[in-house]
Amino acid sequence: MTADEKKKAVALAALEYVESGWVIGVGTGSTANHFIDGLAKIKGKLDGAVASSNATADRLKKVGIPVLDLNSTGDLPLYVDGADEATKHLHLIKGGGGALTREKIVAAASAKFVCIADDSKLVDVLGRFPLPVEVIPMARSLVARRIVELGGQPVLRENFKTDNGNIILDVHNLKIMNPVELEEKLDHLAGVVTNGLFARRPADVLLLASDQGVRKLT
Ligand code: A5P
Repeated sequence: MTADEKKKAVALAALEYVESGWVIGVGTGSTANHFIDGLAKIKGKLDGAVASSNATADRLKKVGIPVLDLNSTGDLPLYVDGADEATKHLHLIKGGGGALTREKIVAAASAKFVCIADDSKLVDVLGRFPLPVEVIPMARSLVARRIVELGGQPVLRENFKTDNGNIILDVHNLKIMNPVELEEKLDHLAGVVTNGLFARRPADVLLLASDQGVRKLT
């Protein structure tokens, strides 16, 4: 199976978590896009969706799924999204597509977070994938210096602005042995909006696609 076939298989497997009459959270990226395509076929079941990015909102609307504002829905029963890296403890790095802040908001609002990924995303230790950090533009250099002090190598994501109008620093050279602690440290730096570690609120279910099929980690 190609990586894209695996992404499609795992996205379709997540459809079984969707129940009638729900408004659910929908993530961003190529795996989440396959999930949206799957949702399109059962859209009568859903009352709507909260999108984790403008790109996802556009795609949901295109297939006829109502996009709702999180301020009008209250908590959500389910959030389905991909990841850039995941461990067997269901800690994640997200934000390769730059949508990390809204993804973290939707995850925080959701009772169950089902993460969907192909098996290339499973790692023993997070950090081979550069960790995205969303930063208020005026704090770019300040935050970069503090990240160097923490042992990372921040690289500005060129020609990129988040949906919130901020920049992304992608932090290389991290071997993240304690993701909860690093997530907290980064969030406490003045000027940081969010970082891409999902450890304080990990996934509840990780669906992983391989050539052997889709397996579930909880
Ligand atoms: C978007 O900002 C990310 O968090 C995505 O969920 C992540 O990059 C996974 O993307 P793919 O599904 O395209 O691999």
